[in-house]
Amino acid sequence: MPPFWLGSIPAPMLSDIDRILIDRDAIADRIEQLAERLVLDLSAEADEGRLVVMPVMTGSLFFTADLVRLLPLTFRIQPTTVKSYPGKSTQSQGIVESALLPETIKGASVLVVDDILDSGRTLDHLQTSLLQAGAKDVRFCVLLRKDVRRAVEIDCDYVGFDIPEAFVVGYGLDFDGLYRNLPDIAVLRKHVVG
Ligand code: IMP
Ligand code: MG
Repeated sequence: MPPFWLGSIPAPMLSDIDRILIDRDAIADRIEQLAERLVLDLSAEADEGRLVVMPVMTGSLFFTADLVRLLPLTFRIQPTTVKSYPGKSTQSQGIVESALLPETIKGASVLVVDDILDSGRTLDHLQTSLLQAGAKDVRFCVLLRKDVRRAVEIDCDYVGFDIPEAFVVGYGLDFDGLYRNLPDIAVLRKHVVG
């Protein structure tokens, strides 16, 4: 039996939400379009056995899961973690924690998949680490790109949606570890974010 709220918003979350910015159907449609482009662009790398898809955990959990199942290509999935938003902060504080990259990155064409491009620090940090670890090339795929002045300019190859400056949650994105399981992308009410 599916949970009773499947297909709707969980009741306790509903009261924290100001508005839905992007609903689950729009997300699914856009992911299909991104997947079509990725298949065209990455099949050579996949055929040569050097494609690695690197989800940045935990925010890109659902995005990656939905995206990779639409890619009929040969590739490895190598998650990583980079943290820049400790606890209840809604502002990027710089990189606070980053996982070590494995040997398998050497010579790989890496597609980094992240939930959202904000200050740019996360992707900039990953690009430097991946190239240092011997990656052949690095591409970025983000579901959301926030319209903000970035601390570091990032050339993002694949973008799901450009969004205005707001703190968003859902579909993997969290505030203090919560709301990730919301199926849509929503803006939180001001009193929740504080
Ligand atoms: P950046 O390093 O500032 O570009 O931030 C990227 C990371 O910060 C993302 O991978 C998210 O985990 C987190 N982040 C940035 N903006 C938001 C938001 O609006 N909601 C939730 N997480 C966010
Ligand atoms: Mg993240």
